[in-house]
Amino acid sequence: MTRNYKIAVIKGDGIGPEIIDEAVKVLDALSANMGFNLEYEELLMGGSALDVTGVPLPDETIQGVKKADAVLFGAIGGPKWDNVERHLRPESGLLAIRKEMGTFANLRPAIVYDELVNASTLKADVVKGVDIMVVRELTGGIYFGQPRELLEDSAYNTMVYTREEVERIAHVAFEIAMKRDKRICSVDKANVLEVSQFWRETVIEVAKEYPEVELTHMYVDNAAMQLIREPKQFDVILTGNIFGDILSDAASMLSGSIGLLPSASTGKGVGLYEPIHGSAPDIAGQGIANPLATISSASMMLRYALGESDAADKIDDAIKKALAKGYRTGDLAAYDAEEVLSCSQMGDIIAKFVSK
Ligand code: IPM
Ligand code: MN
Repeated sequence: MTRNYKIAVIKGDGIGPEIIDEAVKVLDALSANMGFNLEYEELLMGGSALDVTGVPLPDETIQGVKKADAVLFGAIGGPKWDNVERHLRPESGLLAIRKEMGTFANLRPAIVYDELVNASTLKADVVKGVDIMVVRELTGGIYFGQPRELLEDSAYNTMVYTREEVERIAHVAFEIAMKRDKRICSVDKANVLEVSQFWRETVIEVAKEYPEVELTHMYVDNAAMQLIREPKQFDVILTGNIFGDILSDAASMLSGSIGLLPSASTGKGVGLYEPIHGSAPDIAGQGIANPLATISSASMMLRYALGESDAADKIDDAIKKALAKGYRTGDLAAYDAEEVLSCSQMGDIIAKFVSK
């Protein structure tokens, strides 16, 4: 019997629509011969939602994502909305949907494909074989802490973590570590911040339930340096919201381009799958964005949300094959491509490979 899944699709702003179209193209090419059927519902969020409805996260979108089996999301934001009030900014829509959906665990794998070792700005022998999973806490920390205020001559935000918040993200990281190399590096700033000291102590408590996993700790400034110096020392990196935001961007460059890295935001129920990059307004509408991060996010969605791991494997293999054959979008083209592909040409190639 055909398996039916409802996918909420949020294209968003900037390059969002272009990259999502390619991911949907690949999913459709796959579902035909993998025995499942995807039904899409398009929902608005971000600047494009603000323009149409007056808010960055309409109620209809909140209701829509709750009914779906998974959410596939592109990107939001752009200069057009830089001067709107904070609560109406596109980014506020994304933060609100993460909170609404309870997606507290953001998984950001940073993998260096062998075919692309020369694409990194770091030396090939430093990045070859890198396989890191950043586990970023996503619905707490300074992004959401109260009080927060912009005043005339000062402004403040508050970094808060409760025991429950740290415990649940730590469990996610330890469960992932058990399926990998059984090593976690928890990143904090415990030498300066009470909230980080609390984070560290709580993670140490949780670690007692996973005696097989080796837990180490690192201050965030050192971790940023170590990621560039010797990235292969890391397996799972467990960290809070803002440190994870920063470190995952840094980790993405090990792979050669931020246009390659997918993410999964999971937690209480329906998960949200999105590339880690932003809406790249400078190249939006030109058809030159790299759709692989989004296509790879669709693979994570098949694997984690729908349990369709054979289909997910097909996408992952197709991406590797395309890269091995030298297919490159502009972000990766500089160093070895004979021909630079457009966003939709790259989507066509992956769609062709998955349907074989
Ligand atoms: C990300 C983005 C978001 C974040 C922004 C757009 C709110 O940078 O997903 O990493 O800071 O979490
Ligand atoms: Mn970010």
